Amino acid sequence: MGSVIDVAIEEKMPCLQEGSLTGRKPTVVFVLGGPGSGKGTQCANIAQHFGFTHLNTGDLLRAESRSGSENGTMIQNMIKEGKIVPTEVTIKLLQKAMQESGNDKLLIDGFPRDDGSRAAFEAVIKIEPEFVLFLDCSEEEMKTRLLNRNQGREDDNIDTIRKRFKVFRESTLPVIEYYNSKGKVRKIDAGKPAQEVFEAVKIIFTSKSEKVNRCGCIIL
Ligand code: ADP
Ligand code: C5P
Ligand code: MG
Repeated sequence: MGSVIDVAIEEKMPCLQEGSLTGRKPTVVFVLGGPGSGKGTQCANIAQHFGFTHLNTGDLLRAESRSGSENGTMIQNMIKEGKIVPTEVTIKLLQKAMQESGNDKLLIDGFPRDDGSRAAFEAVIKIEPEFVLFLDCSEEEMKTRLLNRNQGREDDNIDTIRKRFKVFRESTLPVIEYYNSKGKVRKIDAGKPAQEVFEAVKIIFTSKSEKVNRCGCIIL
């Protein structure tokens, strides 16, 4: 993967230069959950409350698609079909956003969605997530939310929603299982009203932030 993707984060994020054993590197939290589980909603709260930068991989892909770049049409078609965009494309956009964030606390929303992306992140970005926030919600509730989202998204229709649920079950749940086996998953009941969900989220991030110093670096 390293030959395909230019690893250039070090220049803007000096923490990364020190490698994984020095204890000085950005804190990364992955936020996963089915479509409509409330990832974007909770990430906005977390960013505001805990000073994280919210990197929404779906938004990065939609912006890239709209930009008319060479991958634009491909991305649009994948999103319309509820399929996972090739990892090289997503990780490159993510890498750039991480570079530009200038923050040592990063909330990565909607990634990694399959084992390949997870492995690519490990190989290319070389940062182990601090933990994975898993917003657990029933498909019935998620379907209702998506059909009422009203953001004009081409994938918020019942046909694509069914496909996205299938992709989530078949490709993303195994990623959550992987991190669960490493004791890294913080699972929350996301079927409750947004404010109640955030109360549970706050408990998780409060206990974590106590282990993070002023620079956002993890104290080992
Ligand atoms: P995701 O990013 O996981 O797809 P969003 O945060 O975009 O989910 O939420 C999907 C829709 O559901 C949005 O319209 C949002 O306002 C709404 N929503 C988010 N969280 C809740 C909640 N806990 N209860 C009810 N509606 C919610
Ligand atoms: O997370 P979000 O609901 O915004 O994702 C919308 C769509 O964008 C997904 O169904 C998928 O087609 C694409 N996507 C992706 N890889 C990601 C994030 C989103 O392929 N990491
Ligand atoms: Mg979202």
